[in-house]
Amino acid sequence: NETGYQEAYRPQYHFSPPKNWMNDPNGLVYYKGEYHLFYQYNPYGNQWGHMSWGHAVSKDLIRWRHLPVALKEDDLGMIFSGSVVVDKHDTSGFFGGKSGLVAIYTSAGESQQQSIAYSKDDGRTWHKYKGNPVIPNPGLKDFRDPKVFWDDQTGKWVMVLAAGDRVMFYSSTNLRNWSYMSQFGADQGAHGGVWECPELFQLPVEGHPGEKKWVLQVDINPGGIAGGSGGQYFVGEFDGKKFTTQQKGIKWVDFGKDFYATQTWSNTPGRLIWVAWMNNWQYAQDIPTSPWRGAMSFPRELSLKKVNGEYVLVQKPVQEINKLREDTRVWNNRIITPGTELLPVRGETLEIEAEFQLDTADEFGLIVRKGTKEKTIIGYNVGNQTLFVDRTQSGRTDFSKDFPVVTKAQMKPKNRVIQLHILVDRSSVEVFGNHGETVLTNQIFPDLKSQGLELYARGGNVKLQTLRIHRLKSAWQ
Ligand code: FRU
Repeated sequence: NETGYQEAYRPQYHFSPPKNWMNDPNGLVYYKGEYHLFYQYNPYGNQWGHMSWGHAVSKDLIRWRHLPVALKEDDLGMIFSGSVVVDKHDTSGFFGGKSGLVAIYTSAGESQQQSIAYSKDDGRTWHKYKGNPVIPNPGLKDFRDPKVFWDDQTGKWVMVLAAGDRVMFYSSTNLRNWSYMSQFGADQGAHGGVWECPELFQLPVEGHPGEKKWVLQVDINPGGIAGGSGGQYFVGEFDGKKFTTQQKGIKWVDFGKDFYATQTWSNTPGRLIWVAWMNNWQYAQDIPTSPWRGAMSFPRELSLKKVNGEYVLVQKPVQEINKLREDTRVWNNRIITPGTELLPVRGETLEIEAEFQLDTADEFGLIVRKGTKEKTIIGYNVGNQTLFVDRTQSGRTDFSKDFPVVTKAQMKPKNRVIQLHILVDRSSVEVFGNHGETVLTNQIFPDLKSQGLELYARGGNVKLQTLRIHRLKSAWQ
């Protein structure tokens, strides 16, 4: 590719644009064998501004091909976040009876309004609809981030969008004319900041044949669980008009600091996959990368489980990751005694799968990206039942007071076992605990030479039942 993707901190298998600023994933759709990734993009610089939709495509969610900017600012304003649908039966009338792609996005000018654009050539070129905006601003400061899907129950398009402290639902038969239906959230969930980038989808409940639930995911900034931006979700019902839930507490999507504005790919029958902007508005403009700024999480497949009577959204790295595995080393049944133990595998891009059986240790885990002065600790505290990621000494942390922190999540052992699946890249660590039930995503900026890997235990022993380490190839070669 153009740049070689070898600059300091450049992600090797997470998506990042060749240059300039990127935030939210937008317009995720699978169409004719291609995963499209559009994204909030500043074509002119390394800071937020001139928001447009950048564009890339992939056949496997691993290797991305960059395409020209898809949507640029116009008389109605900048192009904020939104979604893309496949209009299979030409309900919009844009495609002469054939199928095509329709983008639904926020025009952000003097006010925020919803607009549409269509593509007749598989997303390569886009035409903005002459009748934009399709939903004028109703007098709200925050009115943005439309996510649209086809609702089988009513045979209509449904849009969910963020409106300050709530989400609103609209419906349409043709993607051009929209009717307001309902709203949700003013009196539910976390409200430490403005709501953004909602998502709504249905999932079967694993192990409960016939049971399906709707999940409404909403981002919030600030007020996320780890400080700054974060994502929460509600599990409930959607009848085509209204979302309702019996949920009492707040459920967080990810307990790290860097997982925001998630969106699912539309039109992926049989599986549901999402990706997030791996960043936090607290310091997104200040992270020490150049000439680009911003990366996506690794794509995750979603499912829904019932754990102790509670619905839990489960996230796992998509299985396509196995294409990146260069070699694999396996260890079984080892006792880790107090102290640290250096492993004979090093790397800046690793996939680690570990199963620890509790013993007498009160804390244990792994240290990744270890250098002479740097380390990132992925640990489990037995007494508090918390999984944590400590990036206080992870490398460059001085660009923001909000960066050098420990993020944590409550997580109970299962039959005395703690299972971890960890993705390490040049500037990120994603930790999936207990098969994806608890996730922490965090950026790190260690020196490239910091590639050591260690196991550790404190206060006693822990039994490492299995450890599998895959060194990963770059996806950009
Ligand atoms: C979320 C967000 C969206 C908005 C976009 C602007 O990160 O603030 O609400 O559409 O970014 O770039």
